[in-house]
Amino acid sequence: MFLKNALDISHRIVEKIVSQGDVVVDATAGNGNDTVFLAKLVGDEGKVFAFDIQDKAIENTKKRLIYNNVEKRVVLIKDGHENMDKYVPNGIKAVMFNLGYLPGGDHSIGTKPSSTIMAIEKSLELLKPGGIIMMAVYYGGDSGFEEKEAIMEYVKSIDYKKAVVLVHEFVNQINCPPIAICIEKIS
Ligand SMILES: C[S@@+](CC[C@H](N)C(=O)[O-])C[C@H]1O[C@@H](n2cnc3c(N)ncnc32)[C@H](O)[C@@H]1O
Repeated sequence: MFLKNALDISHRIVEKIVSQGDVVVDATAGNGNDTVFLAKLVGDEGKVFAFDIQDKAIENTKKRLIYNNVEKRVVLIKDGHENMDKYVPNGIKAVMFNLGYLPGGDHSIGTKPSSTIMAIEKSLELLKPGGIIMMAVYYGGDSGFEEKEAIMEYVKSIDYKKAVVLVHEFVNQINCPPIAICIEKIS
């Protein structure tokens, strides 16, 4: 199947934009799958800043980076992505958000609307023109509905002269399939 899911769409867009030597952010490291994906794209000359607020996520990501032999390309930060401006330099190429809770972890330690929106705003400041924010937005079961609504409202309000926003939504599937949102900075 060509149209798989929000995460697959996210990866396909990010790999078109990110090149060797770029500096990028994984805003939600989790189990490290996206951190490894980004580390492979930026190569030895590039850098990934990866954030998570949970020790378990930082540990899991570190193990996955070492297993894939890409740990030197990544700065792992145990802090909220809403504080990314304290660590990340200006002129980054991409920021990935894979929202929700750590798979297999505590559902109450998931991403939250206000900190996610603050992190999107900071990402827009740090990105270079032509850079992108790529988000996979999960909702369904016991969580994510409020965050999805808040993010949709926020991204619709972004000044069209500042960024282009694309929402990719599967509309005929069951069980709340995740949504992919891509924001490209113009100026
Ligand atoms: C769906 S998981 C990410 C999956 C991950 N990208 C992967 O490849 O395995 C979401 C993660 O966001 C983290 N998180 C929640 N709030 C956060 C915040 N304010 N800043 C950074 N990470 C946060 C959670 O701890 C959780 O590990």
